[in-house]
Amino acid sequence: MGATHAVAMAELGHEVIGIEANPDRLRDLQNGVIPFFEPGLDEALQKVIAAGNITFKPDHDLESLEADIHFLCVGTPQLPGSYAANTGYLRDAVKALAPFLREDAVVAGKSTVPVGTAQELTALLAAEAGFAPHLAWNPEFLREGTALEDSLRPDRIVIGVNDARSEELLRQVYKSITDLGTPFLVIDIPTAELVKVAANSFLATKISFINAMAEVAEVAGADAVQLAEAIGYDERIGNKFLRNGIGFGGGCLPKDIRAFMARAEELGVGKAVEFLADIDAVNLRRRDRVVEIAQRELGSLQGKKVVVLGAAFKPNSDDLRDSPSIAIADLLKKAGASVVVHDPISLANVNKQHPHLTTEQSVELAAKDADALVLATEWQEYRNLDPAAIGSLVKHKLLIEGRNALPVEKWQAAGWRVIALGRNLEAVAQ
Ligand SMILES: NC(=O)c1ccc[n+]([C@@H]2O[C@H](COP(=O)([O-])OP(=O)(O)OC[C@H]3O[C@@H](n4cnc5c(N)ncnc54)[C@H](O)[C@@H]3O)[C@@H](O)[C@H]2O)c1
Repeated sequence: MGATHAVAMAELGHEVIGIEANPDRLRDLQNGVIPFFEPGLDEALQKVIAAGNITFKPDHDLESLEADIHFLCVGTPQLPGSYAANTGYLRDAVKALAPFLREDAVVAGKSTVPVGTAQELTALLAAEAGFAPHLAWNPEFLREGTALEDSLRPDRIVIGVNDARSEELLRQVYKSITDLGTPFLVIDIPTAELVKVAANSFLATKISFINAMAEVAEVAGADAVQLAEAIGYDERIGNKFLRNGIGFGGGCLPKDIRAFMARAEELGVGKAVEFLADIDAVNLRRRDRVVEIAQRELGSLQGKKVVVLGAAFKPNSDDLRDSPSIAIADLLKKAGASVVVHDPISLANVNKQHPHLTTEQSVELAAKDADALVLATEWQEYRNLDPAAIGSLVKHKLLIEGRNALPVEKWQAAGWRVIALGRNLEAVAQ
């Protein structure tokens, strides 16, 4: 998120210094290369580098003293062996910043954090810097895949502040966006911290809700896609985030709902968000469901070749963090299948981060003699596949549709048996 925010700030005309601790990522950024796949971001980075609006460094130096505002964008991943978020990177970032912080400068946290983190960081910064800092919280709502567009044209900007200086500077920073009419909410800091986890909890709940309906539909002979369409017309419900499938993943939703449960427990209100454990469980069960379907259709998976189409947690991203696609590939492999993973963009990451998984550069090579295909990430490339051509390569024309994104009638017409999560395709065809 930091790289995107830095580029967006530079694009708005601000002078930006990006601090990146990882030497490989730093080298990429200095060379005008975004170290992850994000449509349009490389070009935007090269443009702001050429315009002289942005530089990248490994550490703060005296130039940081000139900065009016410092955004904290470091990761807050799940702590190993716990549901809680690791806020250690934020503490490190604040300690490194303290010697280079001017007394009138503003520190704006953008990372997603447990409520109360800003207060803790304010105390830490005050102790390190020797004065009471201006610290604000400015949650980030960008979505991977449309990150730059979301940063430049957000649906709202939220700032949590408790001093006038922070509000004034953040208003100035975002002025060209808010001049376009973007809602700008100025609230207190704990609420600003909660906004992001609440939003992600709501979105996770919506996805798991429709996936819970899919579980019921599957045994009741009903169709969760038709159900979603029918309830989605109700404006109070809406049709977004209401497509059933293998569930959510990525570097945000899963860890954010777990961190929320952990923080609520610490605050003595664990019961209030206990339902998030069910949201998490519904989500994880959908991954097992794919393996159950494969076993039901193929019998023992021992030695069966199953192709997992897509590795990234969502299309237009090469992010494999908590990707349901990778989890399913692992589960199928554990059940004895010979698994081959394909992805249009993220195979280098799969080979690096999951070297035990076999990958193939093209769908055609992957599909050769396959017993089943699993649609795991709904890349456009898969929507465009010719089912007849792929059908001529496989051993069994079995498609497990994990995202309800493909034109199933076309696949069925080409002789494929399609099992789509939450759907009753036989009934639909009647
Ligand atoms: N990725 C998203 O789509 C997204 C969206 C909204 C909010 N967020 C939140 O933003 C935060 C960051 O997420 P991310 O996905 O970008 O994480 P990330 O781990 O991909 O990136 C964090 C970057 O910070 C660098 N870093 C760590 N410590 C540092 C330090 N002390 N100084 C300088 N650089 C340091 C790391 O090397 C890494 O490049 C998280 O809290 C996340 O929940 C992410």
